[in-house]
Amino acid sequence: MKIVKKIKTIDTYPVRHLVLRKGKPIESCSFTGDDEETTIHLGVFYKEKIIGIASLFKIDNASFKESNQFQLRGMAVLDEFRKEGIGTLLINEAEKICKSNSSDLLWFNARESAVPFYLKLNFKTFGTKFEINGIGPHYVMYKNI
Ligand SMILES: CC(C)(COP(=O)(O)OP(=O)(O)OC[C@H]1O[C@@H](n2cnc3c(N)ncnc32)[C@H](O)[C@@H]1OP(=O)(O)O)[C@@H](O)C(=O)NCCC(=O)NCCS
Repeated sequence: MKIVKKIKTIDTYPVRHLVLRKGKPIESCSFTGDDEETTIHLGVFYKEKIIGIASLFKIDNASFKESNQFQLRGMAVLDEFRKEGIGTLLINEAEKICKSNSSDLLWFNARESAVPFYLKLNFKTFGTKFEINGIGPHYVMYKNI
């Protein structure tokens, strides 16, 4: 059985490193705002091991008019557990948390390769493709909650 729980910043590092910062120094797994009181880190556990992660940051994107936004960052599922619904589980939980915090918009910078995954979950792209240095092409994506 796979369970989503809130986890500490440091517990996101193994999956962040393997999936999102492969070959980069471990320090690259630290994100600005990770330890803010309003930041929430989620982990999916399978047999006591964290196999998927996502983090919610209380950050507004000025392109959107909504006044209570969350930014999703650090979304990752270990390679061997993909396409089993873990990513969906994390997004569903993130949306629940947004709702319970009276947030009206969830947004993020999506890797181009992950855009079809988010489209399936009814997120929309905003604007044009842009480059994040050292990581690759991205789109801003969002959903009204
Ligand atoms: C993107 C990611 C988080 C998706 O996680 P996942 O656990 O595989 O997602 P799910 O199993 O919940 O997939 C839900 C649906 O999206 C589809 N899907 C998942 N990833 C996809 C992709 N990259 N391209 C197209 N479809 C995808 C699944 O097949 C599934 O479709 P279905 O409902 O028709 O069966 C995962 O592939 C990942 O960690 N990728 C590498 C890191 C990354 O890109 N993170 C996002 C940064 S913005």
